Amino acid sequence: MKMIPKRQNIGSAQGPTTPGLLEAVNGNLRRNPVRVRVLRFDGSQLTVPENLMDKFVVRGGNPLIGSIRVSGAKNAALPAMAAAILTEEPVVLENIPDVRDIQTERNLLVSMGAEVELGYGRASHRTTMCCRNLVNPEAAYELVKTMRASTLVLGPLVARMGRARVSLPGGCAIGARPIDLHIKGLEKLGATITQEHGYIEAAAERLRGGNISFDKITVTGTEDLMMAATLADGETVMENCAREPEVIDLAVLLNKMGAKITGAGTSTIRIQGVSKLGGAKHRIIPDRIEAGTFVIAGALTGGDLTVANCDPTHIGSLLQKLEDCGVTVRTTQDSIRVTNGHRLKASDISTEEYPGFPTDMQAQYMALATQSEGTSTVTENIFENRFMHAQELVRMGANIKVEGHRAVIRGRTPLSGAAVQCSDLRASASLVIAALVAEGETILDRVYHIDRGYERIEEKLRGVGAQIKRLGEILPKRSAAQPAGVA
Ligand code: UD1
Repeated sequence: MKMIPKRQNIGSAQGPTTPGLLEAVNGNLRRNPVRVRVLRFDGSQLTVPENLMDKFVVRGGNPLIGSIRVSGAKNAALPAMAAAILTEEPVVLENIPDVRDIQTERNLLVSMGAEVELGYGRASHRTTMCCRNLVNPEAAYELVKTMRASTLVLGPLVARMGRARVSLPGGCAIGARPIDLHIKGLEKLGATITQEHGYIEAAAERLRGGNISFDKITVTGTEDLMMAATLADGETVMENCAREPEVIDLAVLLNKMGAKITGAGTSTIRIQGVSKLGGAKHRIIPDRIEAGTFVIAGALTGGDLTVANCDPTHIGSLLQKLEDCGVTVRTTQDSIRVTNGHRLKASDISTEEYPGFPTDMQAQYMALATQSEGTSTVTENIFENRFMHAQELVRMGANIKVEGHRAVIRGRTPLSGAAVQCSDLRASASLVIAALVAEGETILDRVYHIDRGYERIEEKLRGVGAQIKRLGEILPKRSAAQPAGVA
């Protein structure tokens, strides 16, 4: 259960809060309280009122100076945890980020009967999972709807247990995000798939190797089917695969467990099925999106920021783009230093699959573009509805016009602090970055989105000079007469 922090007076240390802003936000929260369902370790559910809605308060104007450390990659850790389903032996993962999605995945594995130990603190960021006694091969809607990557358990469950029941994810803030390619691929491997009551049920006594050619490049689809194929009978060849570093990291882990995978990181992956996988110990790669977020924040605030513990080769397209914008970028094997003594210049981006410009950096780049000299065009090619941050940036003073999957940003409009809403993980990061250069205070509501994928971002940014605080709001108890809001 989350601890409720003491109420903090945000205005005292760093000047007065924008008058009336907090009151307005609090009033809104009182009208729209939230109830959440919590999955208990025995698999049952509990509905509890969520009286704590954290917000960030950011006062702009400070350049970021110093060194900031990147955590392990959430998007590599999630499939790695799902891979533990494939074996009866313990899998030990190091450099696991302390973020909400990891806790969700832990709950998911525990609900299936897995033993999962999560240790945080100095020596830890390590998890040991043992899936010897899996009893319930199911991913419930309550978990899948909060984290779409829950569908990563589909392939491993069918491969190891012979059956799986996984909720269909439905729509999400950034678009439709179907899982049809996961399903088609599993059918190619011999699974029988049925759909009922919003759930996909997959069954196969033993999967058999096959040829899969993805109609569209999918990251978790590639990972899901790569895991399934490790225990299939015979060889699987997958074409048009995602080439992201997270796919490579998963293949490295699976090979340590005894799988026979070649070609991860290219468009064609070959998997020779084996009858059994064993335990392994593996260190998760650094989070390239967190690294990129800090790099943009450093460049935008005109500071001198070293982003440590990262792999610069994983964000080559972003670093190249920042150099086009006039930012000085220097890299070592595991760090990136950004300095920016000049005016930023506008430059266009177009999101693509790896190694192209990542869709997960598009929102943060848009925040930078609001302060660049000239007009930038941002084209989103991966997701259909990924511009939710644009309207919030406009409320802070940006000049952005969205037409379909393209946004046109006229730069160098002064930003000013406002109350803004986080709509998804990367949109929230974009608003934090914009707030760092806005005049006055910005209050970001619904920062649970950012907690899904950034580990204590406010503490890390404060360490390099940002003025940012987390607020925990305690709501008054509801009277019995009022109906409960459900979110
Ligand atoms: C992963 C990342 C996410 C990132 C995204 C694109 C994880 C946990 N998440 O998400 O942060 O934004 O890659 O880089 O790694 N699609 C289909 N059918 C499918 C699967 C996907 O049509 O069965 C479409 C999607 O709607 C989307 C595109 O393919 O338009 C790419 O999606 P995908 O690569 O699957 O994204 P995720 O793996 O969910």
